[in-house]
Amino acid sequence: METIFEKILVVDDDPFVRSILQDLLEENGHAVLTAEDGHEAFEIYEKDAEISLIISDMNMAAMNGLELIQKIRKQDMEVPIIILTVNDRIQVALDAIKSGASDYLLKDENIQDTVLLAVERACEKHRLRMENRRLLADLLEKNNALNQSNAKLLELNNLKNKFLSIASHDLRSAISNIIGLSDLLLRRLKEAIPARQQEMLGMIHSVSNNMLALLDDLLDVAVIESGRMELNLEPGNLKTVLEERIRINRIIGDRKGIEILTRLGEVSDALFDRSRIQQAIDNYLSNALKYSPKESTIEIFLEEGDEQITVSVKDQGPGIPLEEQPKLFEEFQKLGNKPTGGEPSTGLGLAIVKRVISAHRGSVGVKSGKGEGSIFSFSLPKDPLGKDHLG
Ligand SMILES: Nc1ncnc2c1ncn2[C@@H]1O[C@H](COP(=O)(O)OP(=O)(O)OP(=O)(O)O)[C@@H](O)[C@H]1O
Ligand SMILES: [Mg+2]
Repeated sequence: METIFEKILVVDDDPFVRSILQDLLEENGHAVLTAEDGHEAFEIYEKDAEISLIISDMNMAAMNGLELIQKIRKQDMEVPIIILTVNDRIQVALDAIKSGASDYLLKDENIQDTVLLAVERACEKHRLRMENRRLLADLLEKNNALNQSNAKLLELNNLKNKFLSIASHDLRSAISNIIGLSDLLLRRLKEAIPARQQEMLGMIHSVSNNMLALLDDLLDVAVIESGRMELNLEPGNLKTVLEERIRINRIIGDRKGIEILTRLGEVSDALFDRSRIQQAIDNYLSNALKYSPKESTIEIFLEEGDEQITVSVKDQGPGIPLEEQPKLFEEFQKLGNKPTGGEPSTGLGLAIVKRVISAHRGSVGVKSGKGEGSIFSFSLPKDPLGKDHLG
């Protein structure tokens, strides 16, 4: 190890000890100051910031070694202190270490050999401690910076959600007008205009409806993300809700020649937000219908376990490759599979399902593989307010 020279303060009332140590340390390249007692030592030390080590005797008339240590440590001065002791006073030296000394050194015939080692050891320990402290301070600083940028990100995210809310809210009323007006025109002008124009009006009407659905999804994402989604929990039966949604989605299925089979077990009543759960079911059903080939079959299951009720939707569609599955429930993930009947796709449906189900303290799942069809499921706790689910 490279030698680093220190400025050392030697404190002893015995001039003989002082001069041996001074000579020895100076011969080895260190700079040495001396003091006769603790009092003098403290005065010297206070004025000289370069002193990097103190070697001090214990018994001295004016302020002994122990008092010197205590006085220095009281001011939280870090300098390493080595205590000089004689063989039969080791207990005193150990007490000094308890008070903040770094090490002790025996005043015996070997002192010429041991002192240099002790100096090196004490200084190395001190350097490591300082390094440690520097690293800790560094870590703290980086942590603070991280916390600050996290707070900033949170703020920006909130701003984005606010913007999204306002933008989609304002667009929403404009588009509702287009829907209403095109609907009116369609009904009033039905016989009066040529078929081609009727078709165009019909397109305006249906495209604006899709746009409205998209805006509603965007609004939902903004509301959910900003933590403002409030569930309106009421007792109800999932089977009833499921049957109603299946009835409505069957109409769409019929257009694609897709058959919907139901395997619905009886389930007990549970607490849930009816319109949010409808939204989740609709998303699963509309995906199954949207990505399945014509003339295929979809099966819907409802099962009750000890603590939860599970809804699953199984289709014979293209399946989702394993590597795409982790992204499924994230926002704006339009993955490899495309709708089979020209339906719109924004990649928000499953993200909303996941948030809605999580808000109920439930879980979502998918079992699929490329070319295997898919089973999407969600489970709701029978009692989302129960203490077992609080997390
Ligand atoms: N049942 C399914 N079979 C095959 N692929 C699916 C199925 N459901 C979802 N996917 C794939 O996952 C992607 C994300 O689905 P998600 O419901 O979130 O969005 P979307 O259907 O594209 O649009 P949105 O639901 O917002 O109208 C889809 O784009 C599709 O590639
Ligand atoms: Mg979808």
